[in-house]
Amino acid sequence: MKPIAARERSISGTGLGLRFEHYQHILAEQPSVPWFEILIDNYMGKGGLPLHYLEQVCQHYPITFHGVGMSLGSTDPLNLKYLKQLKELKERFNPVHISDHIAWVCISSQYMHDLLPLPYTHEAVNLLTDRICQTQEILGETILIENPSSYLSFTNSEMNEVEFIQGILNKSGCDLLLDVNNIYVSAQNQGFDAYEYIDGIPKQRVKELHLAGYEQRTHYLYDTHGSEVHQPVWDLYKHAIARFGAVPTLIEWDSDVPSFETLMNEANKANSIMMSQSNATG
Ligand SMILES: [Fe+2]
Repeated sequence: MKPIAARERSISGTGLGLRFEHYQHILAEQPSVPWFEILIDNYMGKGGLPLHYLEQVCQHYPITFHGVGMSLGSTDPLNLKYLKQLKELKERFNPVHISDHIAWVCISSQYMHDLLPLPYTHEAVNLLTDRICQTQEILGETILIENPSSYLSFTNSEMNEVEFIQGILNKSGCDLLLDVNNIYVSAQNQGFDAYEYIDGIPKQRVKELHLAGYEQRTHYLYDTHGSEVHQPVWDLYKHAIARFGAVPTLIEWDSDVPSFETLMNEANKANSIMMSQSNATG
């Protein structure tokens, strides 16, 4: 099939996750959204409605690919079939970024439904580095990796999460998708300072930010992606924008998907923070 190029190769402002509930509205109304993020694992089939709609959305908006299937932290061999499909979709839809997570989802070819955590060791830095380098070579571009939400830590970890991320960025040359909600959730669950975390991240390597909602459980915060962004995360986002500048930001809402208007309201809040920060520094 003839490749379809996204309209632009750069993004700015606050984008939204493309969800099937909103396909019709987006195509009929062409709302003023600067870009959409695609959960690319939902488009791996050979045809069907998702690809049909994606082709149309791409004619009007720049897109990014966000995935959960690379399993960069696995000790299984890389899934070359998955990466080949991803490359075909990249060539067809020309996303501005391709991202996945600092996590593993697969063992002995069995895929889980969760992003599972890694011990923060030198061995794990090297494992991820090797797999990211191979992935970037196959895809022919630099990928972004996303910091996880965490609920436990390993007694054999040799460094904190920021040092772990710094090690991977330095060795692999990949860039970072920094999820501000994930930092807050992990900081509350693990007892570290979310602001110090942001201050330790290399400024030039952050290419995208995520914002999402969490849920307060009895003894911990749970990263649900199913509500509006909470105030402490907006406060942390202000700090992130002050440090990194007006990095493209995504409102990430995956469960109990709300009306398009609700997503736009959240995007407008993020845009006002970006604007007020650039006015303050400009
Ligand atoms: Fe995220």
